[in-house]
Amino acid sequence: MKNDSIGVDVNMAYLEEARGKEPRGQEIPALPEEDFQIIGSLKPRVDGRLIVTGKAPYTRDLSFDKLLYGRVLRSPYAAAEVVTIDLSEAQNLPGVKAVLKLKEGQVKYEGEPVAAVAAASQKAAEQAAGLIKVEYKRLPHVVSPEKAREESAPRVHESGNVEKFNEYSRGDLDKGFAEADVVMERTYKTAVEIHHTAETHVSIAKWEEDRLTVWDSTQAIFSVRDGLARALSIPASKVRVIKTYMGGGFGSKLGLNDHTVIAARLARKAGRPVKIVLSRKENALCVGNRPSTVITIKGGARKDGTLLALHMKNYTCGGVGRGDRSSEPLIDIYRCPHVKVEEYTVYTHTGASRPTRAPGHVQGTFALEGFLDELAAELGLDPLELRRRNSTSANQGDTGIPYSSKGLLKCYDQGAAKIGWARRNRKPGDGQGSKKRGLGMASQIWWGAGVPRTLADVKIHPDGSVEVISGTQDIGTGTRTYMATITAETLGLEPEAVTVKIGDTVYPWAPSSGGSQTTPSVSPAVRDAALKAAAALKRLAARKLEVSEEEVVLARGKLFARNYPERSLTFPEAARELRREAVFHGERGDLPAGFVYNSFGAHFAEVEVDTDTGEVRVLKVVAAHEVGRIINKLTAESQVHGGVIQGVSTALFEERLLDENTGQMVNANLQDYKIATSMDVPEIIPVFIDMVDPRINSLGTKGLGEPPRIPISAAIANAVYNAIGVHPREIPMTPDRVLSMLRRKEAGS
Ligand code: MOS
Repeated sequence: MKNDSIGVDVNMAYLEEARGKEPRGQEIPALPEEDFQIIGSLKPRVDGRLIVTGKAPYTRDLSFDKLLYGRVLRSPYAAAEVVTIDLSEAQNLPGVKAVLKLKEGQVKYEGEPVAAVAAASQKAAEQAAGLIKVEYKRLPHVVSPEKAREESAPRVHESGNVEKFNEYSRGDLDKGFAEADVVMERTYKTAVEIHHTAETHVSIAKWEEDRLTVWDSTQAIFSVRDGLARALSIPASKVRVIKTYMGGGFGSKLGLNDHTVIAARLARKAGRPVKIVLSRKENALCVGNRPSTVITIKGGARKDGTLLALHMKNYTCGGVGRGDRSSEPLIDIYRCPHVKVEEYTVYTHTGASRPTRAPGHVQGTFALEGFLDELAAELGLDPLELRRRNSTSANQGDTGIPYSSKGLLKCYDQGAAKIGWARRNRKPGDGQGSKKRGLGMASQIWWGAGVPRTLADVKIHPDGSVEVISGTQDIGTGTRTYMATITAETLGLEPEAVTVKIGDTVYPWAPSSGGSQTTPSVSPAVRDAALKAAAALKRLAARKLEVSEEEVVLARGKLFARNYPERSLTFPEAARELRREAVFHGERGDLPAGFVYNSFGAHFAEVEVDTDTGEVRVLKVVAAHEVGRIINKLTAESQVHGGVIQGVSTALFEERLLDENTGQMVNANLQDYKIATSMDVPEIIPVFIDMVDPRINSLGTKGLGEPPRIPISAAIANAVYNAIGVHPREIPMTPDRVLSMLRRKEAGS
């Protein structure tokens, strides 16, 4: 299936190719003997000290000689006509070096860019922006998705406010419902979530003659480069994009931003470098959000839990942009012969959505997994047993092609054991007292196969120093650490001995860091380059040590003969024999045809609900994942912690709030937009199945960036259901919502 939310269509291409072909595997070169293995261990981050001591350079920290500060003036209105823009007063303010008009015609959301200035100080830039006179003619707006669906609502786009953007079907829905013993219909809602990266968006643009260099806090240096070249009508070969360290992206930094182009245009006009740092408010309004969803599922099953029919309707809202396709988990993860999906996007006068950590899957999983728990209760079945009974080893949405590997049943076994699944209430709501505890779980499926033909180089200098180089970017996940680890292990060195160079478009091509594709793209490319380097060094050493190449072992900073360890060269001695710096090019191989590539997981949550206050506390989460081979256990655990914390946060707190009268966001800050803090974080127990996928790539590893974000809110909602006996079909589960659910239950409705 195509992951079009993030522009990844690799899996689709390979699925097409897979049909009717002989399945084949992939060669996975053996790792060194266990004593010499670093892959899979708990190695600390190579740059951990740099980061925690505040010395790692983030884009926001960078400064340049003669740097100017840019500021974008944005529409305060959700819908208006820009009649005139008068820049003269701003232009005359001392220190102002460039001004730009950006908008003619209609603005369609609060925060849309209208004009921009660059000045010698941040303060002057802000002051100048305040002096720009814009005459607006207000137009009617609609910011509520429910209202936008009404016939009389103001139109956001000419084509109308509701647009069907996805349809899917297999089997015969009516037949499925006719055969079912139980048919249920439920509606689930998720709120708009803001990415709120710790580091807000930042771009710095600097021209030298006709060459542009941009430092950007981005997940995708190559697509920013190509986008800038198009926007400015210059060749991509004249644009260089650099990303140093970044404080989070979660999808909001996957593409080219308005403010990056604006910085480049201001810099060209002023003849000086320009830096634009977005404010927290701008970050909330104009650089994306996770679309809301209203998902109705009608499902039919036999008494024993066998799923027969699923019909899903989704109304999703991504503001002036499109909502999220959220049906993938329902289409794929369980066996069900009769399925129909209809997805509609609803347009409103709010900032456009962007991919947000597992776009669509998060919302679709909340609905599907909630529905399954309600169905299990109706059938009197253990919710986990219901899922086991419908498990499958072949991809359902794509006519039964087998998964390259699937460890979901193992996730169920190990997760259930770790949380103590037997402790759950047999019947939802059975708990005693005013503080009720419950257990819930949910399954997860995601892509994350990685991108074929990703490149990486290993460079060995005659003095023995080693570099590993790729145009990938570390978005906080630990890319530098595993690149160093893989190179070091293959060459018999320690990770600290390897210099990692990433985040620059002058380096060999790598894909954007989104879609959980970085590790399964970059790590096999690095491994390939390092194996080539090791082979070259073995050849040299074999001659010197008078043994065969096969007998040479690279370990502990040496090259030695396996059976004559006293015959050895130090790594620098061997490198010196290369005589000049030697570059070894690595490439990630293809995805073998005949399989579908997905990752799997299951989260188990324990909650306590205070039925007097409506407060939900998440006590414990066991997060079991099968993502092929684990490259670094420590950074993998970090991914799981981050995903779980984000999921706790959106399950309980996060929600963009809009004033329907003004069309403005009322919580565009971190005081009113609630995010989980340390006191809300549960005990988190990551569990990795750690099985090598025998096909996916030369390390047998899948991506883990998004998976731990996918099932967590659903698992929490199901745990709340288990605790209080009424299912929270809407997130965030704020105390007022929980209390009104409890009242509904008491009233017996
Ligand atoms: Mo992610 S939403 O692919 O950064």
